[in-house]
Amino acid sequence: PRDLYGPHRLNPLGRDYSIKSAREQADKALTALNPVVSGPIIGGKLVTSAPSTPVASPTDSSVLAGLVHNASHADIDRAAELAKQAFPAWDEAGGPARAEILRRTADLLEADMDRLVALLSREGGKTLTDGVAEVREAADFCRYYARLAERQFGDAKPLPGPVGETNSLALAGRGTFACISPWNFPLAIFTGQVAAALAAGNAVLAKPAEQTPLVAAEAVRAFHKAGLDPRLLALLPGDGATVGAALVSHPLIDGVAFTGGTETAWAINRSIAARPGPILPFIAETGGLNAMFVDTSALKEQVVDDVLLSAFGSAGQRCSALRLLYLPEESADMLIETLLGAMDELVLGDPADARTDVGPVIDAEARAALDSHFKRLAKDATILGRLDPGALAAQGSFFGPVIAEVPTADYLEREVFGPILHIYRYKAGELDEIGKRLAARGYGLTLGIHSRTDRFVERVRALVPAGNCYVNRSMTGAVVGVQPFGGEGLSGTGPKAGGPQALIRYAVERTLTVNI
Ligand code: NAD
Ligand code: ALA
Repeated sequence: PRDLYGPHRLNPLGRDYSIKSAREQADKALTALNPVVSGPIIGGKLVTSAPSTPVASPTDSSVLAGLVHNASHADIDRAAELAKQAFPAWDEAGGPARAEILRRTADLLEADMDRLVALLSREGGKTLTDGVAEVREAADFCRYYARLAERQFGDAKPLPGPVGETNSLALAGRGTFACISPWNFPLAIFTGQVAAALAAGNAVLAKPAEQTPLVAAEAVRAFHKAGLDPRLLALLPGDGATVGAALVSHPLIDGVAFTGGTETAWAINRSIAARPGPILPFIAETGGLNAMFVDTSALKEQVVDDVLLSAFGSAGQRCSALRLLYLPEESADMLIETLLGAMDELVLGDPADARTDVGPVIDAEARAALDSHFKRLAKDATILGRLDPGALAAQGSFFGPVIAEVPTADYLEREVFGPILHIYRYKAGELDEIGKRLAARGYGLTLGIHSRTDRFVERVRALVPAGNCYVNRSMTGAVVGVQPFGGEGLSGTGPKAGGPQALIRYAVERTLTVNI
C-alpha cells in the first residue's frame, strides 16, 4: 500500500481525541482561529472589490466563521485568461514535475491540520473526527494523484506494431477545467478535484459551494504556497446559479468536474451540451438512494454499530450515507430495539467538542428540507425514535437524528440529505421485487449488506447496482486508493475519485506512429 502514495508515508497521522493533550490542542486551535477572508483568488491575489458577506457557523449563527467576496463575470474572464496563458508550460512540464507540487501541497495541508480541523468545524459544522478524516483525505488525494501523474503522464508508453514502425501513446492535459464542489466535503472534495485536474496537466478554475468558501480559500493558498504558478489555480466563489452557471458556459473552459446533486448535474450537462465548439468532458459525482440489506445470519451488534455510523455519522450528510435499511421480519424487532437504544446514546451537540457524535446540518435551508420530510413521515410512516436537539435548535441548524419505519419498500423516491433513517421489514419472498424496484430508481452509489451467507450477498449485489458495495461493515468513509469512490446511473459518470483511472477523463490521449 505504501506504493500507492509514492515516497511519502501512507497517509497523514490522525488525532486521538480520547487523549487530553489532543483535545487541548484542538481547543487551542479553535480559540486561535480568526475569521477567514475568502473571495476570488486570481493570479495568487485575493480580490476584494465586491462587497463581502458574512459566513456564519452552522453551530451557532451568532459566530462569524469569516467573510466572502463573490466573483464577478469579469473575475471569471480574467482568471480564465491567466489559466490559458499558464497551461502550456504546466502541461509540458510532465507528470513527475507536477507530482512534486502536489506532494508539497499535501505536506502543507498535513502540517496545518489542527487549524483546518478548527475551520472545518466552525464553517462546516464538522465534528473533530470528521475534520481530521477530511484533512487526511485531502492530503491523500494530492499524494495519490501525484503518483498517478508520475506513472501515467511521464514518458509516452510504447505500443506494438509492425517491423519498421514505432508506436506510442501519451496522455496530456486538456486545458482549463472548471471544478465545482459541494459543501459536505469542503476541503477533501474541493482539493481532490483540483489535484486531479492539475496532476493531468490542466489549469483550474475552482468554485466552492456557497456555504463553504473559507476552507476552500485555505486549500488554494496551500497549492500556491507549494510552488504552483498562481495563474494555474483560481478560486471563484459564488452562487451556483450565477458564478457556477457562468463558469460552465465560459468559452475558455475545456472540461468540467462536478460533485453535488443529481439535478445540478443535469443542469450543467445541458449547459455544456448547448455550447458551440468542442465537445467537453463532464465528470459528475452525484447523490444516491443508498440501502443496506440485512439477513438473519447477520451479527446484531455489528449491524447496529454500522447502521448508526452509516446513517448518522457526519449528521447523515454524506453522499454515501445509509438512507434505507431493509431488515428481515424475523429479527427486525430485536434489531430495531437495539438500534433505538444505541441511538439514544448518541451525543448531539457542538462539533468542536470531542464527545459529540452528531453536529448540526449545514444551514437553515437544509434543516427546513429535513423538517418538511419529517412532517411527511409523521403523516404516513411510523416515527420509531428521534433525538431532540432541545435548545441547540435555536442556536444553530441542529436536526435530531430520526428512525422511521416506512409503509412500503419503495417509499423513498429520492435522496434525503441528513440524519433520517428509513426502515422497512421485508418478508423472505419479497427480496427480489424490492431489489428490482430500488434498482429501477436509477441510482447506484453505495450498497451495504450484512450477512454471513455468500448466497445472500451475491443475490443482493446482483439485484442492486452500486459503485461501492460494503459487506459486514459501515458503508461510508471510502479511503483514497483503497476504496476508489463513485457511482453509476443517476449517481455519477465516473471515473472513480481516488482510483487508478481517476485522471483519464481530465486528459487527452495521443498516439504517435513513426515509420522508420
Ligand atoms: P448542489 O448540487 O446544490 O451544489 C454543488 C455545487 O454546484 C455547488 O458549488 C453549487 O454552487 C454548484 N451549482 C449549483 N447550481 C449550479 C449550476 N447551475 N451551474 C454550476 N454550478 C452549480 O449540491 P450540494 O447541496 O452542495 O451537495 C450535496 C449533494 O452532493 C448531495 O446530493 C450529495 O449526495 C452530493 N455529493 C456527492 C458525492 C459523490 O462523490 N458522489 C460527494 C459529496 C456530495
Ligand atoms: N467518499 C465519501 C465516503 O465514502 C463520500 O463517505
